[in-house]
Amino acid sequence: MFDIENFDLKLNTEFIGRNFIYIEEIDSTNTFLLDRQNKIEISGTVVLAEKQTKGRGRKDRVWYSTKEQNLTFSILLLKDYRLFNHLNLINFSASLAVANSIENLYQLKTELKWPNDVLINKKKTCGILLESSSLGNKIDRVVVGIGVNVNQSMFQGQFNYPPTSIRIELGREVEREKLLAEILNNFEFYLSKIPTETEYITREWKERCRMIGEKIYVKEGELIKNGIFDDIDNEGFLLLRTKDGIEKITIGDVSIV
Ligand code: BTN
Repeated sequence: MFDIENFDLKLNTEFIGRNFIYIEEIDSTNTFLLDRQNKIEISGTVVLAEKQTKGRGRKDRVWYSTKEQNLTFSILLLKDYRLFNHLNLINFSASLAVANSIENLYQLKTELKWPNDVLINKKKTCGILLESSSLGNKIDRVVVGIGVNVNQSMFQGQFNYPPTSIRIELGREVEREKLLAEILNNFEFYLSKIPTETEYITREWKERCRMIGEKIYVKEGELIKNGIFDDIDNEGFLLLRTKDGIEKITIGDVSIV
C-alpha cells in the first residue's frame, strides 16, 4: 500500500504533485490525464496507479509492471507555453529527475539512453512516455508518463531492452513514497530551468549519457541508420555523424554497434 501521508511529508514542490490522485487500477495513467472528459484541469496533477491494465510505452509497446511494486504515474502540465516549445527537454527533465533521485537516495550509478530511458548497469529501470494534445493548432496539454521499476524482483517475457529494478540492483527493497517525492522535487527543479537555461538541461543530460562518441545504429520502424553519436542539439535531438554529414534524428531506438 502506498502511504500518501508519508509521500506528502517529503514532497517539496510548488505545484508538481500538489494535486495527487491515487488509483488502485486503471487502463493507463497517461490515457486518464489526456482525456479531457475526466476534467482534471490543475497543472502539476500527478496520477499514480498501483496497476495499469493497458500501460503504454513508446511506439505502442506495452509497459508491464507488477501491481503495487513499482511506480507508474503521470504528470499533467497545462498551458505552460514556455515549456511546450521544448517537449524533448521536458522528457530530458523527467529522465534527469529519475536518474538523480536514484543516485542520491541509493548511490546507484545511472546512465541515460536517448531519448529518455534510465539505465542501471546497462539495463532499463525507467521509461518515459510524453504525450500531448492540442486545442486548435496549439499544444495546451502535456502528459509525462513515467514507469520506474522499483521493487519488482523478476521480469518474465520478451523485452525490447533488458529490464531491471532498483531492488535487483541494490539488493533490498526501497520506499516508494520517498522515491516518488524525490523524483517530483527534482522534476520541478529541472522544469524551472527550461524557459531560460535550455543548455543547463542538455549539459546535465549529456554528462549522464555514455553513448556520445560511440558507433551506433538508430532504428525507426524498418529504417536503420548507422553512424557516430556525435552530440545532442539544444532541443535534445540526436546528431548522428554519417558518411554524408550530420543528420538530426528526432525519433528512434538507439543501440551501440
Ligand atoms: C517506454 O519506455 O516505452 C515508456 C514507458 C512509459 C510507461 C509509463 S507508466 C505510467 C504511464 N502510463 C502509461 O500508460 N505509460 C506511462
